Amino acid sequence: MDLLSLVKNRQSARVYTDKKVEIEKINQILEIARLAPSACNSQPWKMVVVNSQDKLDGLKKCLISGSVNAFLCNVNTFICMVEEPAVLRKGVTVPSDYYTEYDIGELLAYITLAAENVGVSSCIIGRVDTEKIVSVLDLNENEKCKIVVALGYSDTPKREKIRKSSDETIKFI
Ligand SMILES: Cc1cc2nc3c(=O)[nH]c(=O)nc-3n(C[C@H](O)[C@H](O)[C@H](O)COP(=O)(O)O)c2cc1C
Repeated sequence: MDLLSLVKNRQSARVYTDKKVEIEKINQILEIARLAPSACNSQPWKMVVVNSQDKLDGLKKCLISGSVNAFLCNVNTFICMVEEPAVLRKGVTVPSDYYTEYDIGELLAYITLAAENVGVSSCIIGRVDTEKIVSVLDLNENEKCKIVVALGYSDTPKREKIRKSSDETIKFI
């Protein structure tokens, strides 16, 4: 698919079938995500795939709150973005973690587009209980997880994209 079509086709899916995402497809998505850019190439991340039943139940308790994100109940694959301190490869610490959220944003964009490219639907989930998720993912004191991506198969028809106009968002000076 060309890039514009891919971007237009990707949408947040909030209804999923029971079909499991194949490990081959998960690996294809991760391989693309791994190549995402980051500030100083620090790659302050790990991607934790959760697709085993015992972990799924615990993870969903960190993501669903009453009716908020209740659609995740039958999702069976998540990729959790784990932030870690930004350290340059040569061992020099990046002056601040100012860019970490931008870096994770790149990762999210790569994951969601890579998923769409292999016919897998996705939804970024920013409502995460950041305290509860520590034990579910077995994070250490330097790691945190504030965002995850749900992956799966969805029959939802494509919606029209609702976006601000180019006049409102783009300026040439
Ligand atoms: C940082 C971030 C957090 C989000 N968190 C949630 C969420 O918790 N639940 C949800 O249903 N959608 C969530 N979304 C999806 C957005 O609602 C969605 O991307 C936006 O409405 C545009 O729709 P589209 O993705 O279908 O084009 C999140 C998106 C981003 C980028």
